Amino acid sequence: MKRQLLWGIALLAAACSTPPAEPTLKEAFADEFLVGTALNAAQIMGQDREAQVLIATHFNSIVAENCMKSEEIQPEEGKFDFSLSDPFVAFGEENDMFIIGHTLVWHSQLAPWFPFDKEGNKVSREVMIERLKSHITTLVSRYRGRIQGWDVVNEAILEDGTLRPTPFLEIIGEDYLELAFQFAHEADPDAELYYNDYSMASEGKRNRVVQLIRDLKAKGIRIDAVGMQNHMGMDYPAIEEFEKSLTAFAAEGVKVMITEWDITVLPTVRMGAEVSDRVAYAKQMNPYPDGMPDEVSQAWDERLRSFVDLYEKHADKISRVTAWGFSDGDSWRNDWPMPGRTDYPLLFDREKKLKPVVQEIINEKINNK
Ligand code: G3I
Repeated sequence: MKRQLLWGIALLAAACSTPPAEPTLKEAFADEFLVGTALNAAQIMGQDREAQVLIATHFNSIVAENCMKSEEIQPEEGKFDFSLSDPFVAFGEENDMFIIGHTLVWHSQLAPWFPFDKEGNKVSREVMIERLKSHITTLVSRYRGRIQGWDVVNEAILEDGTLRPTPFLEIIGEDYLELAFQFAHEADPDAELYYNDYSMASEGKRNRVVQLIRDLKAKGIRIDAVGMQNHMGMDYPAIEEFEKSLTAFAAEGVKVMITEWDITVLPTVRMGAEVSDRVAYAKQMNPYPDGMPDEVSQAWDERLRSFVDLYEKHADKISRVTAWGFSDGDSWRNDWPMPGRTDYPLLFDREKKLKPVVQEIINEKINNK
């Protein structure tokens, strides 16, 4: 009896002496929305083991940054490459995460063969619809019941509210959007289906997305949420305009998701809207190669806080907030549109440490629970 008592006291002492683990991002926001990040190949395959552990610790949702885009997952017609998407989904399941498939229909990183026949001519509407259906059905049914939500159509609308001239629009016509949602729903009736886009604070895009939601719903086609990517800078978008769009989408009876959040501090490089374009390096466009000056870092913190406050204000409408990458070193912002820059857009720094402002926000929330 005495030995058991002594063991019990020892265990109790050990438990009391072990410092409480630092509260995590997902714990801090557990009552409001899921918190997610985008995984790159090194994180999916465990080459970046440190990141993997931290992602599993802090996030309860993940999205594939590139490996599920058509140029990567169906590089040749009928030949699918699941070598990254399978372990991506497995990682999410092992860590009980809300898994997002990104993205079924996008004009960028589109498999080169998709709109063309063997002679290099554009295929017919019927063939393009068949290819669209085959791509979506193969992917969505493979992960049926395992991927909870899909970015069905990505970036199909321009800031002026017109439909982006893509091969899908040109060859199939406007109904490619509803066909994509329909095919995805048929392949997994339980999966959530999203329309995802950037610059969603622009009035023209806002109004057209509202119209898209109404059109789909009027036809009885499932759409669960609108993804507001929110790739933002220090002076865009205007938070009031972003809030107008957020509330306009929610008013249509869909969820809102912040799907690709990052905040660049780098000067805007003027170029076209085509995300695959690049601009030659210029030193003056890369002002902080060795770290942000205090005043810039402070401004970034304030910018981040202003949007966290907005997300929390509308936590009844927002179901997920996802950062577009784990740490600053991973971000596409370092290389687009000008390769070789140093940006600081994400929640974890280049040393994979949680940024102080994020830790402060976590602590404030945990202490106020
Ligand atoms: O995989 C190749 C590799 O084999 C090659 O050696 C290397 C060098 O050229 O390129 C690699 O492909 C790159 C790919 O990312 C994977 O790393 C492409 O060049 C590069 O263009 C591609 O960039 C991605 C970009 O989408 C493409 O448009 C970014 O990582 C990704 O973060 C970004 O994400 C998009 C979202 O999907 C949609 N919303 C906008 C967002 C930012 O553009």
